[in-house]
Amino acid sequence: MSLRLGDIAPDFEQDSSVGRIHFHEWLGDSWCVLFSHPADFTPVCTTELGLTAKLFNEFAQRNVKVLALSVDSASSHNKWIPEINETQDTEVNFPILADEDRKVSTLYDMIHPNANATLTVRSVFIIDPAKKVRLTLTYPASTGRNFDELLRVIDSLQLTDSHSVATPANWEDGDDVIIVPSLKDEAVIKQKFPKGYKAILPYLRITPQPNR
Ligand code: BEZ
Repeated sequence: MSLRLGDIAPDFEQDSSVGRIHFHEWLGDSWCVLFSHPADFTPVCTTELGLTAKLFNEFAQRNVKVLALSVDSASSHNKWIPEINETQDTEVNFPILADEDRKVSTLYDMIHPNANATLTVRSVFIIDPAKKVRLTLTYPASTGRNFDELLRVIDSLQLTDSHSVATPANWEDGDDVIIVPSLKDEAVIKQKFPKGYKAILPYLRITPQPNR
C-alpha cells in the first residue's frame, strides 16, 4: 500500500553515490526531501538534479537534507554526476540512492507499473524530523518538477507547525496567513496575533505572518 500523510517514513539501508546510507540515522533531526527520478543520463533528470544542487543552501537553511533515488547503480550515478555538474554549472552535493534491487522504490511505491514497469516515476516525499511523511507528490517522467514549490511547502509546514495558522493558495513566505478555524477564543487570538486580523468570512480570518 502506498504511503499516506502522517505515516512514518520507512527506514532502510541502501547504497548511494556516497556510500551506504542508513536512512533514519542519516536523517538525524533534519527534514528530508526524498525524491526519485526515472534514470541516470536522461535530460529532464539532469536538469532536476542540477537545480536541486543549486538550491542546496536554501534546503540547508531550512534544516532539510536532500536524497535522490533511481534504480541505477552507484557507479552509474558517479559517472553521471560530472555531466550534471558541467552542464548545469553546479556541484551535486547530496547523495543519490542506488536502488538497483528496488528495495526503497518498493517500500515507497515509486514504481508505477502502468506508467513504466521497471523505472521509478518522479515521486517526492517531504519527511519531518519525527520521520513522518508530510507531503507526497507524483509527477510523470516527461515533466520536470518545480523545486521552488518544494521549498514553499517546507516553509508552510514549518510555519504552520509552530503557529495556529494555515497558508492560502499560492502563499509565499512573508505573505498574510489564515488563522486556523478551530481557534475561536478572542483572548488567545489577540495574544497570538497582536497585529490583529481581518475576518473576510467567519472561517476566513487573515493575519500578517506571525513570525515576521
Ligand atoms: C528524462 O529525465 O529526461 C526522462 C526520463 C525518462 C523518460 C522521459 C524523460
